[in-house]
Amino acid sequence: MSMFKTVRGMRDLLPKDAEKMRHAQQVARDLAVLYGYEEILTPVVESYELLAAKSGEEIRQRMYIFTDLGGRKVALRPEFTASVARLVATQLRNAPKPLKLFSVGSLYRYDEPQYGRSREFWQANYELMGSDKPEADAEILSITSHLLKELGLHNYCFKIGHVGILRGILNQEGIIEEQQNHIMQMLDKKRCEEALSTIKQFGASQQCVAVLKRIFETQGKAAFNILKKTEKTVQAYESGVVAVENLRQILMLATTSDKFETLIEPGFARGLEYYTGMIFEAYVPKLNSALCGGGRYDKLIELYGGEPTPAVGVAQGLDRIILAMEKQKTKLKIRKEKRTIVIPVSAEMKTNALKIASVLREAMIPTEIDIVGRSVSKALSDADRRKVSYAIIVGPEELKEGKIVLRNLTTREQQIIGIKNLVKDLKALD
Ligand code: HAM
Repeated sequence: MSMFKTVRGMRDLLPKDAEKMRHAQQVARDLAVLYGYEEILTPVVESYELLAAKSGEEIRQRMYIFTDLGGRKVALRPEFTASVARLVATQLRNAPKPLKLFSVGSLYRYDEPQYGRSREFWQANYELMGSDKPEADAEILSITSHLLKELGLHNYCFKIGHVGILRGILNQEGIIEEQQNHIMQMLDKKRCEEALSTIKQFGASQQCVAVLKRIFETQGKAAFNILKKTEKTVQAYESGVVAVENLRQILMLATTSDKFETLIEPGFARGLEYYTGMIFEAYVPKLNSALCGGGRYDKLIELYGGEPTPAVGVAQGLDRIILAMEKQKTKLKIRKEKRTIVIPVSAEMKTNALKIASVLREAMIPTEIDIVGRSVSKALSDADRRKVSYAIIVGPEELKEGKIVLRNLTTREQQIIGIKNLVKDLKALD
């Protein structure tokens, strides 16, 4: 037994799991094309300063940080948004807006491993840069719903809030951004009582505490009713009211083109610090952790030295989406390729078998060749076990007449057919 295993929090994806992951990635990529997002590939290693700038206390503490051999402080990316914002602040600074960028890849966070949480995980990520309109926020919600639907999930629900509500109130109370961030971290962890007493300590008025308390208690599925109620609650805070109205418009647009369940939670916060507007997460029943998360961040690109550029985006956690698909017993819509194996009956037939295999591969028919010199019966039973569809048995008798034996490994029927027509005949089979 080897002494080596994966590092804690890291996983191997064996063929079946890798196939699911590739499928989810492909569906995400197809949707990117459908909505006009262009794919970019950014490095896994970025400067620590870039990643730490607005990632929030929790992610900052969980980054894989190291010094490279050149003495630079670097980290493994815990998310894509910082890298995409860096690009828009630098190389894509003058690119015409809006810019729609898609990425898929692995991310790293030193989280405590548990069901649905590991230290290396995968996201599909969509960022829409250069629009502050509610249409942009609505599009990000729609893409996310479309992806979940396309992957066969049902009963998913979007938890939606707007950081402009809380920040608007806290700003008006004179609570500085750093203190606000601290409060948001507590709210992200559902520590509402602690958040309220901290807000008091920071010098917020009694009215403010009462308003926030009511906001934390407000949530519900009837979106427009909840928003009306929230608007009333925050009426003393001008920018809070503006935020509620913005969320109303976003929801109106998002729900006209698409039907998905929503849970409006005006006091909901996310761990990342860069959000300035609508925020959301997607859930399915019986899986406690979020499948996707996203929102609007209008100040990040400017913070990185770029032009002021409003932006909104989402990251879909592919590992958790796959877990949800398994929970809901979703059928994978993966087209199974017809696979073949060429088996020479003896060593003398090897070169002929190779020639036939290369003809089939040129015709794009997946073809293996027996490379361990097994007997025909052993090679056949092994191919059967691995669910190969057809075996092409190359023997001297048939070969003399330009023919081979074609065996259907499912029905076990076999026929002798001409090599000339092999590609055509194989393609005609189902
Ligand atoms: P996030 O909420 O930190 O947002 O992550 C998005 C998704 O990544 C989560 O909903 C979850 O499915 C998955 N995820 C996060 N951590 C883990 C983990 N340890 N194991 C498995 N899955 C995990 C962001 O990353 C933002 N960059 C989203 C965004 C894009 N906002 C604007 N643009």
